Amino acid sequence: EHSKSLKQFNVAVYLFPSPSSGRLRVERQSEDSVTLSWSSGRHRLCVWRFPFRLEILCEDEVMVTFNSKGKLWFEKLQDPPSSIGADLCLHGFSHVYGLPEHADGLQLRDTRDGDPYRLYNLDVFAYDLYSRLGLYGSVPLLVAHKADRTLGVFWLNASETFVNDGQTPPVKRKRVEPQTDVHWLSESGVIDCMVLLGPGPQQLFTQYGQLTGYQALPPLFALGYHQCRWNYDDEADVKAVDAGFDRHDIPYDVIWLDIEHTDGKRYFTWDSALFPEPAGLQRHLEKKKRKLVVITDPHIKVDPDWSLCREARDGGHLVKNREGHIYKGSCWPGESYYLDFSSPDTRAWYSRCFGLDKYKGSTPSLFVWNDMNEPSVFDGPEQTMPKDAVHCGGWEHRELHNLYGFYQHMATAEGLITRSGGSERPFVLSRSFFAGSQRLGAVWTGDNVASWEYLSISIPMLLSLSVTGIAFCGADVGGFVQDPEPELLVRWYQAAALQPFFRGHSAKWTKRREPWLFGEKVTAAIRTVIQERYCLLPYWYTLFHLAHTSGLPPLRPLWVEFPGEQSTFTVDNQYMIGGALLARPVTDPHVQEVKVLLPGSGEVWYDVHSTKAHKGGQTLSLPVSLDTVPVFQRGGSVVCSLDCGPFSLQGAADGELYLDDGHSFSYRDRKAFCLRRFSMLSGRLLCRPASEGGMFDCAAVVQCVTVLGLQSRAADVVLRSERHSRV
Ligand code: NOJ
Repeated sequence: EHSKSLKQFNVAVYLFPSPSSGRLRVERQSEDSVTLSWSSGRHRLCVWRFPFRLEILCEDEVMVTFNSKGKLWFEKLQDPPSSIGADLCLHGFSHVYGLPEHADGLQLRDTRDGDPYRLYNLDVFAYDLYSRLGLYGSVPLLVAHKADRTLGVFWLNASETFVNDGQTPPVKRKRVEPQTDVHWLSESGVIDCMVLLGPGPQQLFTQYGQLTGYQALPPLFALGYHQCRWNYDDEADVKAVDAGFDRHDIPYDVIWLDIEHTDGKRYFTWDSALFPEPAGLQRHLEKKKRKLVVITDPHIKVDPDWSLCREARDGGHLVKNREGHIYKGSCWPGESYYLDFSSPDTRAWYSRCFGLDKYKGSTPSLFVWNDMNEPSVFDGPEQTMPKDAVHCGGWEHRELHNLYGFYQHMATAEGLITRSGGSERPFVLSRSFFAGSQRLGAVWTGDNVASWEYLSISIPMLLSLSVTGIAFCGADVGGFVQDPEPELLVRWYQAAALQPFFRGHSAKWTKRREPWLFGEKVTAAIRTVIQERYCLLPYWYTLFHLAHTSGLPPLRPLWVEFPGEQSTFTVDNQYMIGGALLARPVTDPHVQEVKVLLPGSGEVWYDVHSTKAHKGGQTLSLPVSLDTVPVFQRGGSVVCSLDCGPFSLQGAADGELYLDDGHSFSYRDRKAFCLRRFSMLSGRLLCRPASEGGMFDCAAVVQCVTVLGLQSRAADVVLRSERHSRV
C-alpha cells in the first residue's frame, strides 16, 4: 500500500563482483517487469514494477524475493526521524544463522511466536540466556544454508534494528517447500540491503570479507594465553602472577590491567602508588617476550584539571546533548564526557594519545582493551546514550548507535599502528562491535557467569560471531561473574584453549583463580591444555592467515565443512577448527560419556589423544574423564604443530603452514612470509611453496612427522629429506 502511493523511487542493484559489461543483459519482459541476466545467463534478476518486487534467480529457480510480502517501508528524512523496513523470502532455506550478538543457540529461531531479534548495542551485566534482546555488539548479517547453497543477507544499518524471521520446514507429503521469510526494520537510515549468493560457505565468507573487510592478522602473541583480572592490584601482584606461570610451567603471553590501574579512572594515566614504574614493569615482562594490556574506556572523567580532558573539550571531541551543550553521563569515574568517535578528527586525536611520547609510562609492548563502548552510560536509557545526543555533522546518536564502539576500536588500532611508525601490527580487544570490526582486532562476549550454561552457550555465541566475519573472538574463561567450581574451571579452559581468543578473566568481587590455586590435579589439567594450545599455534596462525586473506573463519560450524550433510546443520556443541580438527568440548558436570557426531560417511577421524581411528557418518559415544578433551583429526589432513605432540600428518593428506615474523606488517609490505603446502601423495610427503608464496627466510625445520592410519608395516616407511629439511 505504501509503495503504491509513491510515484517513483530508485533501486540500485550492484552486481558484485561485476560481470564484464558484455555479459550483462537487460530485457523488458512485460509492461511491468524487466530482467537482467549475468554470469553466462545462469543468474537472473527480475524487477517487477507493480507491485514492486525483485527476484534473484539461478538456473530459472527463484532463490530470493525482495519485498515478497510487500513490507517495504521508508519514510523521508524528517522530524521525528525516519524508519525503514523490507522483507525477503529465501526460497528453499529453513536453516538460518548469524545476527550476533545474542546469548542463544547457533540457529536462529522462528520469531513468529515471540520477540524479534534486536540489534542494539547494550551493556548487559550477567546477561540472560536464550534472549533475543541485544548485547554488546551487532552484525546485521543473516546467513542461510541448505545442501547446495549458502546465502547471506547483509542489512547495512547502524540504528536500532529488529529482525523477524519465520522458517517453514519442508513437508514432503504436502509438497511444501522450505522457505525462510525475513523482515528487517530499522529506526533510521536508508535501505542498503546486500544479498550474497555464495554458492558455498567459503565463497560467502569471501564475498562478505570483500564488503566489510577481512580479519586483521593478529600478532602471534595474541593467539597465546591471556591472564586478566579486575584487577591485578599493583606491580608486585603482576610480577607475582607472572612468576607463578613460570613456577608452574604454564605458558602465557599477556597479563592485563583493568580500570583500577589508572589515576581515578582517568585512562592513559597510572595510579602512582600502585604502579609507580609502569615502563619498568613492561620491560620486566618483555624480557620474557610477554606483553601488558591496559584498559581504555570511551568516557572521560569530567576534570578540567586533567590535560587530556581539557584537550578533548577544547578540541571539540565530545558528544553533545540536544540543547547543544556537552553531553554528560555517569560511568566508572562518576560524571563523564563521551568522546565522539564518529568524527575523523576525534579519531585522529585519540590515536595520537597512544603515542609513546604522549602516553606516559607506555612502551611498545603495551596493548589495549576497549571496554564499555556500547557506550555504557550508567544513568542513561537502557544504560546507554540517549538517542537524541548529537555527534559531529549534527547526526543524532540514534543514527549510528551500533557503530560507536566500532569507531573507538578503529581509532585505538590506528593509534597503535601510528605509534610504531606504521610498522607493527596492533592488538586491541573491544567489547562492542559492528560489521567490519574484524579488521580492527578481537572481541569478547562480555560479562558472562561462572555456570555450566554459560560455558555451553559460549560455543554457539562464538560460532555466530565467526560466521559473521568476527573471527577473533572469545569468552571470559571461568565466567566473569561468580566463582567457578574447579571442575567447571577445568572444562572452561579445555574449551577455550580450542577457541580463537583465549583469556581468563574474573570480576573484582570474585575469588582469585590463577590456574595453580585449586590443587595439583586442576593445575595439571589446565597446564596440559594451555601447553597444547601452544603446540597448535602454527596451525591457529595459519588459519588466521586464511581468515585474513579469504574470510574463512578459524572456528567453523560443522556445516561449513560438510555443507551437504543435513545432520550437521543443527549442531552447535561441537565445531571445526579449520578444516582438519573437530572439537567437542565437555560442557556438563560429572560427565562420563559424550556423544560426538563424526560427519562424512567416507571419512576417517583420528582421536588426537589415543590416535584411534573412527569411521565418519556416525555418532560416537566417547568415555570421558576430567582430562579428556574430545578432539578428532580428519583423515587426509596435515596439521603442523610446534612439537611432536598428538597433532600431525596422516594418509594421503594435505595442509598448509604460514609463517612470518609474528609482529610486523613486513608480511604485507615486503612479502616477508612463508606459505608452504604439505602433501602426502603416493607415499611421498612433499613440502612446496603454496601458490601465493612469499619470501621469509625462517629457521624452522621439520623435526618429526607422525603418520596415522598407515596400512603397511612401519618398516616400509622411509623418511628422507630431499635437499635440506628447512621449512
Ligand atoms: C566491564 C567488562 O565487561 C569487564 O570485563 C571489566 O572487568 C569491567 N567492565 C571493569 O572494567
